[in-house]
Amino acid sequence: MPRHTWTSCWRSASAPRRLPDQPAASAVIAAAGSGERLGAGGPKAFVQLGGRALLHWSLDAFAEAKSVGAVVVAVPGGAENRVPDGAAAVAGGASRSESVAAGLARVESELVAVHDAARPLVTPELIDDLVEKLIDRPDAAAVIAAAPITDTIKRAGEAHEVTETMNRDELWAVQTPQVFRSAALREALDTDPERIAAATDDAMLVEEAGGKVLIHPSSPENLKVTTRLDLRIAELLLAAREAG
Ligand code: C5P
Repeated sequence: MPRHTWTSCWRSASAPRRLPDQPAASAVIAAAGSGERLGAGGPKAFVQLGGRALLHWSLDAFAEAKSVGAVVVAVPGGAENRVPDGAAAVAGGASRSESVAAGLARVESELVAVHDAARPLVTPELIDDLVEKLIDRPDAAAVIAAAPITDTIKRAGEAHEVTETMNRDELWAVQTPQVFRSAALREALDTDPERIAAATDDAMLVEEAGGKVLIHPSSPENLKVTTRLDLRIAELLLAAREAG
């Protein structure tokens, strides 16, 4: 299987799903960022994208995913009433992982799908694929979405002098959703605050705690909105998707 194909690498598209009748996972959506880099003058999760708040695109995908029941959204303190009915709202923390921990405190299921509201192009199929794969792999603590790297990546020192060219075949651009065994994520988040503050994803904390993390190849279309340009690209992709 070539690593650059992201359409279901482990399950053929025609194979029936093997998900339990009842949703196996809950979801925590991290939406408590300030959105400073976007310069929208307010939290990124509520920036308008294709006529609705950025957060709502992810909420729709999770509502449609068969593998997910309860959804908890971590938003900036005071914005809890901006989360639509059907999802629970909690006040997020100072860092992304603290926001995830606040959401996780409300999760009762054995599995949890953690997702950044900043990725509005997530699909129900991707969510279900990730949950299904974790159910199939009892040895794993997490399954995470990631796209193959297409650029050549180099490491450079302070003077911008190149010290290493990485082997691209082994590199992945990590995305969300990331699906965890809830107990493994809880344990990983129970670490010193500096590590939590520095974590750029939750899988990293699970890896550090010795948990096995598996990659599920996914499309680069599941992009993260950070800048105005990302917002424009996401708008175009969503419009194309809606147009069929
Ligand atoms: O800032 P960045 O885009 O990396 O944030 C990734 C995700 O984490 C976003 O969806 C953002 O809302 C969320 N976040 C959070 N709490 C924070 C910081 C970021 O929920 N304190």
